[in-house]
Amino acid sequence: MKIVLGPASAQLGEKIAELLHLEKVPVTFKTFPDGENYVRLEGSVQNEEAVIVQTTSPPQDSRLLQLALIADAAKRNGAERVTAVVPYLAYARQDRVFLQGETVSIEVVARMLKAAGVDRLMTVNVHQEGILGRFPFPAKTVSSIPLLAEHFKHKGLEKAFALAPDEGAMHIAEEAKAVLGGECGYLEKQRDRYTGQISVEKKSLDVKGKTVVIFDDIISTGGTIVAAAKILKELGVGKVYTACAHPLLIGDAEKRILEAGVEEVVGTDSVPSHVSKVSLAPLIAAELVR
Ligand code: R5P
Repeated sequence: MKIVLGPASAQLGEKIAELLHLEKVPVTFKTFPDGENYVRLEGSVQNEEAVIVQTTSPPQDSRLLQLALIADAAKRNGAERVTAVVPYLAYARQDRVFLQGETVSIEVVARMLKAAGVDRLMTVNVHQEGILGRFPFPAKTVSSIPLLAEHFKHKGLEKAFALAPDEGAMHIAEEAKAVLGGECGYLEKQRDRYTGQISVEKKSLDVKGKTVVIFDDIISTGGTIVAAAKILKELGVGKVYTACAHPLLIGDAEKRILEAGVEEVVGTDSVPSHVSKVSLAPLIAAELVR
């Protein structure tokens, strides 16, 4: 097994390689003046399992294509098997037809990766695990929530209330609760399918004076967390923190979340940024050799 350092996750790939004492295969990449991508493997993958570590956070399309090009390069250069480690799997939220005339984007992505040479895929906290069963190759998701919860436990937030912004994310809150040892619950979130506007309903949650950590898979515009924090304030909460696997933090999302009274935003290096205080490397390394 060799670790191929996808340009979007080179640091994470290096950490995984170090933990597993595996050889790294750097990737030269460039963008031509007309915007086309170019990749080249700077090492041999002949008769090896090539593990390509490449997240597909923005710019998603370019990073997906880089991943496909690297997978093809690995196969052409004799890799026995190509494993794609894609911490943030772009397009996973369009996992069904919500409105007539739409496509199921994630299925298109999966077929594209298969055509490029990917034999199996590992991702982290995919939005909806069921979609992986429809992939044309074995695909699995692992959860970073216990690691994120440990981060808060080490900060002294043991017994904090683990909150999910909607019922669909309740399994995330339950995973966090198992580490933090406090309570957990969820709010009622609705998203307008046409405008994308979020609304979170007030409901009776016993959070008065308590420390709450809101856990989610993705923080994108921050709209979900801002709306949740507003409800929590109305319920008389103590301190509020938030954590997610994929801190996309589009535009001024972090600023808006902090202005809504949240103490801190914590994410993983699925999407590298200054909030990526938790590394996925140990989780992915363990899973690769399982
Ligand atoms: C959607 O259901 C996801 O779980 C997240 O809650 C959502 O993607 C967050 O998006 P935003 O930060 O734009 O509200």
